[in-house]
Amino acid sequence: MAAAATASSQGRPLALPRTITLRNGVELPTVGLGTFKAGGDEARGAVLAALKAGIRHIDTASIYKNEAPIREALAASGLPRGSVFLTSKVSPYEQGAGRARQAVEGILERLGTDYVDLVLVHWPGVARTPPDSAANAQQRAATWSELQQLYREGRVRSLGVSNYEERHVAELMADPAAEVKPMVNQFEVHPRRPRRELRQLCKQEGIAVVAYASLGCGDLLTAPPVRRAAAAVARSPAQVLLRWALQEGCAVIPKSVRPERLAEWTEPQLLGADWGLSGEQMAALAAMEDGHKYCWDPSGIV
Ligand SMILES: NC(=O)c1ccc[n+]([C@@H]2O[C@H](COP(=O)([O-])OP(=O)(O)OC[C@H]3O[C@@H](n4cnc5c(N)ncnc54)[C@H](OP(=O)(O)O)[C@@H]3O)[C@@H](O)[C@H]2O)c1
Repeated sequence: MAAAATASSQGRPLALPRTITLRNGVELPTVGLGTFKAGGDEARGAVLAALKAGIRHIDTASIYKNEAPIREALAASGLPRGSVFLTSKVSPYEQGAGRARQAVEGILERLGTDYVDLVLVHWPGVARTPPDSAANAQQRAATWSELQQLYREGRVRSLGVSNYEERHVAELMADPAAEVKPMVNQFEVHPRRPRRELRQLCKQEGIAVVAYASLGCGDLLTAPPVRRAAAAVARSPAQVLLRWALQEGCAVIPKSVRPERLAEWTEPQLLGADWGLSGEQMAALAAMEDGHKYCWDPSGIV
């Protein structure tokens, strides 16, 4: 999982990689579509539009309740199953012995597939459990043990976690019962909250990072430094924010239910060598860092 160079020795942009090779050899597409808060017709329409535009990674979760419309979009696309990378997540309500297996079986059924490309533990905490309860760690371990079994059975091609902080990652890496180590950590990353230390730990442990809320849930699209960079490179603010994350070595899963918006997020447009953010432009975006969080905070979960 070597980080790719983003500029030639003459300082010209280089094409960014289309995939990240996970520790088990599975290729994770670096550009995907997020689907949080997209349901029914919206999810079906957005996923079909994304697939038609060439996006080959779809991020969902059992808690998003849109796996069935995603299945319908996949069927309508006519694409072979093997050409699309599907990520789903086991929710805090589904953690623990017995439940995690049932959760993955539900995911497989709703997505209409024999295997999922990536299953993540959505959240380090367990539903209806106080954040400071030791039960969280016990249930996390039980969940991982079941996911590991499903991985060995071939129902899941790769395994990962989401919203895991440094200590949750360290705990899983150190657990001797966790023979299959996490391949991915998906968490909030954008210029205001770049999470350099957590990303460094993931890199050190061979865990690929998938950034979420790259657009700051829409809010960062109007931020003056983003607008200035967009004007300088003649690209949209969304393309600038996604290129920032990709140049930082993350995979991205921006969300839109509007085909005209997601049409800007194809691999050639985001990964091409015909443009890039210079060191100065990256630094100007990095100067936005203030720790602001757009989504929920897992830092209190023991
Ligand atoms: N693992 C986790 O706990 C977790 C947490 C959060 C997110 N995620 C995943 O990451 C994905 C992305 O994160 P996110 O959806 O929270 O935030 P995001 O991708 O940063 O932003 C999505 C929002 O931006 C809006 N938007 C997109 N393009 C726009 C444009 N050109 N102009 C104006 N608004 C625009 C979208 O609205 P429209 O749809 O109306 O275009 C949507 O409201 C999620 O969908 C989900 O798959 C995972």
